[in-house]
Amino acid sequence: MREHQTPAAGWTNPLRDPQDKRLPRIAGPGGMVIFGVTGDLARRKLLPAIYDLANRGLLPASFALVGYGRRDWSKEYFESYVRDAVTAGARTPFREHVWRRLAEGIHFVRGTFDDDAAFDRLAGTLAELDASRGTAGNWAYYLSIPPDNFPDVCHQLDRAGLAAAGPDNWRRVIIEKPFGHDLASARELNRIVNQVFPESSVFRIDHYLGKETVQNILAMRFANQLFDPLWNSHYIDHVQITMAEDIGLGGRAGYYDGIGAARDVIQNHLLQLLALVAMEEPIAFTPEELQAEKVKVLRATEAVRPLSKTTARGQYAAGWQGSHQVRGLREEEGFDAESTTETYAACTLQINSRRWAGVPFYLRTGKRLGRRVTEIALVFKTAPHLPFADTMTQALGANAMVIRVQPDEGVLMRFGSKVPGSTMEVRDVNMDFSYAESFTEQAPEAYERLILDALLDEASLFPTNEEVELSWRILDPVIEYWAGRGRPEDYPAGTWGPASADRMLARAGRTWRRP
Ligand code: BG6
Repeated sequence: MREHQTPAAGWTNPLRDPQDKRLPRIAGPGGMVIFGVTGDLARRKLLPAIYDLANRGLLPASFALVGYGRRDWSKEYFESYVRDAVTAGARTPFREHVWRRLAEGIHFVRGTFDDDAAFDRLAGTLAELDASRGTAGNWAYYLSIPPDNFPDVCHQLDRAGLAAAGPDNWRRVIIEKPFGHDLASARELNRIVNQVFPESSVFRIDHYLGKETVQNILAMRFANQLFDPLWNSHYIDHVQITMAEDIGLGGRAGYYDGIGAARDVIQNHLLQLLALVAMEEPIAFTPEELQAEKVKVLRATEAVRPLSKTTARGQYAAGWQGSHQVRGLREEEGFDAESTTETYAACTLQINSRRWAGVPFYLRTGKRLGRRVTEIALVFKTAPHLPFADTMTQALGANAMVIRVQPDEGVLMRFGSKVPGSTMEVRDVNMDFSYAESFTEQAPEAYERLILDALLDEASLFPTNEEVELSWRILDPVIEYWAGRGRPEDYPAGTWGPASADRMLARAGRTWRRP
C-alpha cells in the first residue's frame, strides 16, 4: 500500500512527521554568491525572489548574499541596488525589518572571472561570513553568466578552495541556461562543470519547472483516476505545446541574435513540458525516479521527417501589437540588419513508445505573437460514430483538454453539449478550472521555488545533464536543417506566426489552436 493510502496518515501529528509536505520547508544555514549579479535576470528575478523567500520566513536569519561582478561597486551601493530591485520586483510586501536583516548579510566582491586575487578575496569574504554570520561553510554559487565564462569561474572556485565541500558543509552550483548551443557544446560544458562539482551538487535551472501550473501536470496525471485511461494514442489525436509571447527582442540582441527561438525555448522549456505530459508514472516522487522517467521519454523522442514538411520558422517583421506599431527584428537595436535568427520556431515530434505511437507532438514558440500564452492542448480523436444528422453537429469540434500554464492559470475541457431547444443540435462548450477562483493562496514565483529547492538540496525540479543532452539530441537535426537555408520567413508582428507553420499542420489535416 502506498503511503498516502495508509488510513492512519490523516492522524499523524504533522509536527512530528518530517515527511509531511505541508510543513514549510526552511533552508538551513548558508549563503549564495551570484555571478552576473549586475545582469537583467538577477535584477528582475533572482534578487526579488531571495527577498520574497526571506519575507516568507523560509531563509535562515543568518543568510548571506554575495554579489560578484566587474563593476566598481561598494557594499553600500550594492545594497541599494538590491533594495531597488526588491522594491521594483518582489511579489510580497516590502517590510523594513525583513529587509534590514537581509541587508546585513549583503556583500559585494569586485573582480573579473579570471582574476586570482579577486577570487581569493571572495574566499576571504565567505570565510568571514561563516565566522561572523553563521553561514557554516554552506555556499551556493549562482552562475547567471554566459556559458563562455563557466570554465573560468569553475576553475577559480576550485583553485580558491571554494568548490570542494567539507565533511560538514555543502557547496552547490546553480546554472542558468543556455547549456550550450548544441549537443557537442552541452557535453563539453557538462564535462567542465562536473570536473569541479559532482553532478549531485549541480542544479540546472529551467524556470518553467518552478511554475506551479507545470508541477500540476504531475498532480493531475498521477493523483487522479479520471485522465489516465484517456492519456494515450487510443484517444489522443495530437498534442500542441505553445509558448507564445507578445514581447519583442529590443535590448536582448547580445543574447538572442544567433541563438533563436528553438534554442532559447524549445530545447529547454517546451521539451520539459513534453516530458512531463508524456512520461510514465514514476515509482516514487523522488528526484531520481522523476528524472528517470523524463529521461526515458526524451530518449524515445525524435523529430518527424522530412523536416521540410514538419518544421517551420519565422522572423517578426514590423507590425501592430495591439494599438502599438512595432519594429521588425532586423530594425531592433543591436540586431544584424541581415540577421537570420528565427523568432518563431515550430516542430513536429514523435515519441516511440506504445503509449504515444502515431500521436504527433507539435511544439511552437515565438516572439511578437498575438498574445502571451503558454498552454498544452491534448486534442482528442473524434468520436468513431455520431448518431446524429450532419446538420446537428456542424459546430462540434474535437474534444480537448487544455492545461493553461500562464496566464489565467487553469485547465479547460472542451466537449460537445446539446444546445437548448427543440432540436438535437450539438455544439462545443468549455468547462474551466481556474487557479485564481479555486485557491486563495498566491502561487510563489518560479525562482522562489527553485532557489529554495537548491538551498534545500531538493533536485526534483532541475533537469539533469542527461536530460539537457537528450534535448539537444532531439533538436540538433532541426537546427542543422535550418542552418544555411537563408532567412526565415517574415511574419508581421502581432500575428500568429509564419504561413509555413499553418501549412505544416494543414498537411496533416489539423490546425493550430488560437488561444
Ligand atoms: C526565458 C527565455 O527562458 O523565458 C526568454 O530566454 C523568455 O526569451 C522567457 O522571454 C519567458 O519566461 P516566462 O516565465 O515569462 O514565460
